Amino acid sequence: MATFVRPAHPWPTEALWQALQAEWPGITVEVAAELDSTNETLLTRARAGDRSACLLVAEHQRQGRGRQGRRWISAPGDSLTFSVGVPYAPRQWAGLSLAVGVAVAEALAPEVQIKWPNDLWCAGRGPAGEGRKLGGILIETVGTAPSTRQAVVGIGLNVRSPDGGPAGWPDPRNRPAGLEELLPGIDAAEVLRRVAPAVVRALHEFEREGFAAFRARFEARDLLRGRTVRTTEPEAPEGVALGVDDEGALLVHTAAGVRTVTVGEVSVRPC
Ligand code: BTN
Repeated sequence: MATFVRPAHPWPTEALWQALQAEWPGITVEVAAELDSTNETLLTRARAGDRSACLLVAEHQRQGRGRQGRRWISAPGDSLTFSVGVPYAPRQWAGLSLAVGVAVAEALAPEVQIKWPNDLWCAGRGPAGEGRKLGGILIETVGTAPSTRQAVVGIGLNVRSPDGGPAGWPDPRNRPAGLEELLPGIDAAEVLRRVAPAVVRALHEFEREGFAAFRARFEARDLLRGRTVRTTEPEAPEGVALGVDDEGALLVHTAAGVRTVTVGEVSVRPC
C-alpha cells in the first residue's frame, strides 16, 4: 500500500508532463516525498487493473528494490529514484534494459557507460580504471497477455556518491560514483528532466523496432567490451567480453570458446 506524503522540494512536474506528452500521450507525472518503492507502487496499481502510463518519482524510498532481491538504498536529495509504468507489448523483451541504459547514458554525459545488463557506470573512475557504479535499472512486469501486460521500468541514479552511512564503505574502493562528479552542480530534478523524456522515447522505439535500434548505440557505451570478466553463468565463469548479440545477450570469449550469457551477474576483474 502506497502512502504518499507531499514532496519537500520543487520538481519541474508541469514542464516534464508537457515534454512527456510528445513521447507518450496521456502519461501522468507524480512525485511523492516518501513511499516504499516506486516500482512496487506501480506494480500494485497494475495488478489492480490500472494500465495507464505513469512516471512516478520518490524523493525517498523506504524499501527500494534492486536486482536479484537486493535492496536499493538511497538518501533523499543525494539520488534520483523513479519508475515509468506503461502498457507494453514489444515483440521481444530481450535487450530492453540495455535500450533503457542507452537512453539514460546518452541523456547524461559521454563518460556514462552501461555495464551489462542493468548498471550505469562512470567510466574510468575505479581504483583500477574499471569505473564505478552510478546507478541501476530494474524492469518488472505484470500480466502475460500482450493486451494486458504492463512494464515497470525503475531507475535509481546517484547524484552524490553515497557515503555508506556512519560505518562508511567496508572497502572504499567499492564506493559508488555520483553524477555531480561528471556534471558539477546538477541536482535530482535536473537529472530527471534530462533522463525521463529519453527513457519514455526509448520505450516507444524499443516497442517498434526492438534492440536493433539500440545495438550500435549500446556498443558506444559498453563498459565491458574487451575486459576480462567473471560471470555467474557456469558455462562462462571467466573470459573476455566481446559485446552483445542481436538480442542483447553478452558474448564472452572463454577458454572453451565463445559463450552467450543471458542472465545473472558479471563482475569486472581488476586489470
Ligand atoms: C540495481 O542496480 O540493482 C537496480 C536498482 C534499481 C533501483 C530503482 S530506484 C527506483 C525503482 N524503485 C525501486 O524500488 N527500485 C528501482
